[in-house]
Formats: sequence, structure tokens, C-alpha cells
Amino acid sequence: DRFWAVVPAAGVGKRMGSDVPKQYLEVQGKPVLQHTLERLLEVAVFAGVVVALGSEDTYWPELPCAVHPKIRIAPGGKERADSVLSALLSLDGIAGPDDWVLVHDAARLCITSGDVQKLIDSLRNDPVGGILALPLTDTLKGAEAGEIVETIDRSRIWRALTPQMFRYGMLKRALIDAAEQDLVVTDEASALELQGFRPKLVEGRPDNIKITRPEDLPLAAFYLERQCYE
Ligand code: CTP
Ligand code: MG
Repeated sequence: DRFWAVVPAAGVGKRMGSDVPKQYLEVQGKPVLQHTLERLLEVAVFAGVVVALGSEDTYWPELPCAVHPKIRIAPGGKERADSVLSALLSLDGIAGPDDWVLVHDAARLCITSGDVQKLIDSLRNDPVGGILALPLTDTLKGAEAGEIVETIDRSRIWRALTPQMFRYGMLKRALIDAAEQDLVVTDEASALELQGFRPKLVEGRPDNIKITRPEDLPLAAFYLERQCYE
């Protein structure tokens, strides 16, 4: 079975509030998306990397990665899940149902090839697949009207990161079903959960942050710099 990467990069970055979509803002002199794709391309196992792009995207052709032989593009959609499904459909007749797909946010530029490899090694013999995730460090409180009503058992709660790794056939089916039922899925695992599957959690690195707001840019620059010394 082969491995594919899918990179949803069709968002507008509303929370960033910049004219340039956040995946094209520069960190250490290089666009976020270029960093992300370089990190994924370090993992030699991928047969191809499909990038979902917005219809108004004029920045993509400027990226050095745009001409990389392993990179393919697909039209993005309205929501993240639509962009991922569009990328999967672009692999129809190319990817097999049992091929693995790793979906990774364009905005997570600090992903390490080590974490991608850890996810693959942990799940390649799993029937369903799973995701990189982080245990919480803070204590969690359930509240009503600004008052604490309970302390939530932290050991049950994880933060979902990407990549998220599932079989091509199962993931496509799950995303099509969710779309047909108008169910909102904010990550791939939730689409599989709706089908009754229980995706695995693989602990990832805390520096695998998603660029969301302006203050995340210097933080990402710091993490990238620090990773150079590992
Ligand atoms: N994404 C996408 N297609 C969409 C929406 C999002 O491909 N219709 C991508 C984004 O480009 C991003 C990833 O999904 O790399 C994670 O989404 P998010 O962080 O929410 O990015 P945006 O939607 O661009 O940001 P915001 O929610 O602040 O508008
Ligand atoms: Mg969004």
C-alpha cells in the first residue's frame, strides 16, 4: 500500500486578519506553505502530495514547491473538509482504497519528519488509522454562567493535531457521507468517528502548532530555529 499526503491550503485565514492568506505569510523569509511542504517532502515514503488551493489563489505559482514532481494540486472547497475531499477525489483511479493518506494542515509548518514517521510507524498495521495528538497540561473546568460546576478528568481529553492518517477508501467514504448529511467535521478523525470507528491517538510534539493568529508567527519562527539544533 502506498502513502499520500493531502495538504488543505485553501483557507482565507480570517482570524489572522491579514490581506495575504496566512499560508503565504513569511516565516524566516519563506512562506508558511513552502516550509510545510518541504517538511512533508523530507518523508521519502510519499508517492505524491496533493495541495488543495483556493480559487482566487495567485500566490501558489510563486512557491518553489509548485514545480516539485511529487506535488499535485486540487481545487479547494468551502470548508476544510470540502478541500480535503476535493484532494481525495483528484486521486480517483490513482490511489488504491487501501493506500494510506496523511492529511496535514498547511498552517502547521513546524511539523517534523520525525513526527510524521512516528505516526506512520505506529499505525501502518492498524485497520483504521489515527492522528497525532497532545495530552493537556492545564486542569480543565466545566462551567455554567462563569461558575465552575465540575473538574474534567484530564486523562480523557486530547488535543487533535495533524497529520491524520487514514485509508484512502475509508476516508473518502466518511467525508462523502458527512457532506451528504450536512454534518460538520473539523478534522478527518471526526468523519471516521461518525462511521463508528475509533481512530488511534499517537502523541505528537507540542511545537506542532497551527498558525492561527498574528502572535503565532514569531512563535513558529522560534520553534523552527530551535528544531535546527536537534
Ligand atoms: N482550509 C482549506 N479550505 C477551507 C478552509 C481551510 O483548505 N475551506 C485549510 C487552511 O488553509 C488551513 C487548514 O485548512 O491550512 C486549517 O484551517 P484553519 O486553521 O481554520 O485556516 P483558515 O480557515 O484559513 O483560518 P480561519 O479559520 O481563521 O479563517
Ligand atoms: Mg478555518
